[in-house]
Amino acid sequence: MPLSPDIEITGDGSATLRSVVHGDTYHSLRGAVGEARHVFIESGFLQSGANPVKVLEMGFGTGLNAWLTLLEAGKTGRAVEYTAVELHPVAQEIAAKLGYTDDPRFAALHSAPWGEWTETSEGFRLRKLRSDFAKTKFSTIFDVVYWDAFAPDTQPELWTEEIFARVHAAMAGKTDLVVGSFRGAFVLVPLCYVVSERKKIDTESALWHAVVGATRQNDYFYDNSFEKELPDHSAVEDWG
Ligand SMILES: C[S@@+](CC[C@H](N)C(=O)[O-])C[C@H]1O[C@@H](n2cnc3c(N)ncnc32)[C@H](O)[C@@H]1O
Repeated sequence: MPLSPDIEITGDGSATLRSVVHGDTYHSLRGAVGEARHVFIESGFLQSGANPVKVLEMGFGTGLNAWLTLLEAGKTGRAVEYTAVELHPVAQEIAAKLGYTDDPRFAALHSAPWGEWTETSEGFRLRKLRSDFAKTKFSTIFDVVYWDAFAPDTQPELWTEEIFARVHAAMAGKTDLVVGSFRGAFVLVPLCYVVSERKKIDTESALWHAVVGATRQNDYFYDNSFEKELPDHSAVEDWG
């Protein structure tokens, strides 16, 4: 029987899980719901004007990103076609214990069958693929990708140029992110931030904290010695 992940409460009061397999948390400890809204909904889903919006998620996990997407789409009546890849599914009983909502549409995301399209609620079509993302091939062109893998140091096998090239290709040039290299680690940065002020980013901004949290780069960016080397919080030198 698989070991159950532990539930932890994050900075904004919302719950997350700690993976038994990877030892890492599913969300930033600064705030699970806050991170998901900021990174995946505001900087991802809401940046696309497509209808239906075709979303690809790496790591379905707790279903939080799918749930917030469903809610957001409902506000504007947009349809969603959501493909989620997950290698270690979270049991429905554990997802329910996270306390995100008691709305039956959340439970429906978890009870939906694997490997086929299901309209889990009106306007929201879900296809969960139980597979290793590194070995999964897609024929769909996606509008938005939620890259929600564990940190590069936790699972470097998912942070390879080959995988990012494949994801980028699956977006047919619609991506609003750039993949950069910072001191040897891959980082994802919203395109608007890169072009607005060349090679500079506000490392104190909420968006940057959310990006760092989502990509689990705390080891790289919250290390004291490193912060001392950023007197004006603006030195990002080696975008790939
Ligand atoms: C950081 S968690 C995020 C989960 C989810 N997006 C959420 O909000 O709860 C990463 C997820 O990726 C899954 N995962 C890890 N390695 C994977 C792989 N090789 N292929 C597919 N999923 C994987 C984990 O089981 C976990 O659910």
